[in-house]
Amino acid sequence: MYPESQLIEWRRELHTWPELSGQEFATTARLRGWLQAAGIRLRDYPLETGVVAEIGQGETVIALRADIDALPIHEASGVRFHSRHPGVMHACGHDLHSAVMLGAALQLQAQADTLPGRVRILFQPAEEIARGARQFIGAGVLDEVQAIFGMHNEPSLPLGTFATRSGAFYANADKFIIRVTGKGAHAAYPEQGVDSIVTASQIIQALQGLTSRSFNAFDSLVLSITRIDGGKSWNVLPGGVEFGGTARTHDLQVRADLEQRVRTLVEQFAAANGAQATLTWQPGPPVLINDPHWAGFCSDVARQAGYRVQTAELHLLGEDFAFYLQQVPGAFVSIGSASEFGLHHASFTPDEALIAPAAGYFAQLARQALQHLSARCQASLPL
Ligand code: NI
Repeated sequence: MYPESQLIEWRRELHTWPELSGQEFATTARLRGWLQAAGIRLRDYPLETGVVAEIGQGETVIALRADIDALPIHEASGVRFHSRHPGVMHACGHDLHSAVMLGAALQLQAQADTLPGRVRILFQPAEEIARGARQFIGAGVLDEVQAIFGMHNEPSLPLGTFATRSGAFYANADKFIIRVTGKGAHAAYPEQGVDSIVTASQIIQALQGLTSRSFNAFDSLVLSITRIDGGKSWNVLPGGVEFGGTARTHDLQVRADLEQRVRTLVEQFAAANGAQATLTWQPGPPVLINDPHWAGFCSDVARQAGYRVQTAELHLLGEDFAFYLQQVPGAFVSIGSASEFGLHHASFTPDEALIAPAAGYFAQLARQALQHLSARCQASLPL
């Protein structure tokens, strides 16, 4: 067996040398080195960054996933092992997630001969830009996988607390850009132009009315305008304005309806003002939907492992694990990391004490999920 201090040491090394999404080359080399030194076999996929390990033998296959990328944030946490890459920080705790799944891998490797199937462990890049899961799926990492599990640390929960839920969990997290084109003019003679600033401001007001008036109160939905850009002078009406933001929903139909309603509103308000406007909708990760059976299974194993188990609240954040759950059933869970500062904060300081118990939990979960699937297969039971 390995000591907890080994996992902490690995986590700190990852924390000290964070890499941005899609650029996790040194992180990939470190993970490969540690896994191979432990005698764990790696699977070969056409991937630039990220690592896929596999433990055990047999037909039944489940997957565990950690994300490995960092954020463009300059660290201000004050920890001794702080980032040595200025402007880049593991401010979402993906370094902890990686250490947890390394620990699970080591424990599973120690019992590889008696595992009733295979556990594939995905160290996935580029979660923060919602690209890594799709790259992994495209490379074939889910082939043969019957169930998949993953975690995020939750700074608002105390250590030793576990939370998940059935069905929708994280949001459709979409980005949009609206460009209004009017006609520039001297500010003293607005009638000679088409005022794109007034048009943009009408659209922004109307969008807030749209979300509150055109959707059911129980359709969870948030639309925020986060930037606006237009004009450079005090006495000239600009020819155009660009603004944008994000929309968060928990249902694919509500998301599709919202996009359509926003598009119609934007075009018609612009037309009413004699301007033109376009909407560019950039879908982010879709709503993350936990399989009810596996969410319950994860909670049961967490209780056995000694966690205080709660029902998680709906998140309005996005999480690209959702792409895996569109392909195979499984569940995503939260584990308390007790940080005073939240995710993506320059002072984010999750408690490392979560790592070893979570590693033990995922090893236990993997073994029990394989046993469950093998038993079901032999008895031809429905899931
Ligand atoms: Ni994250």
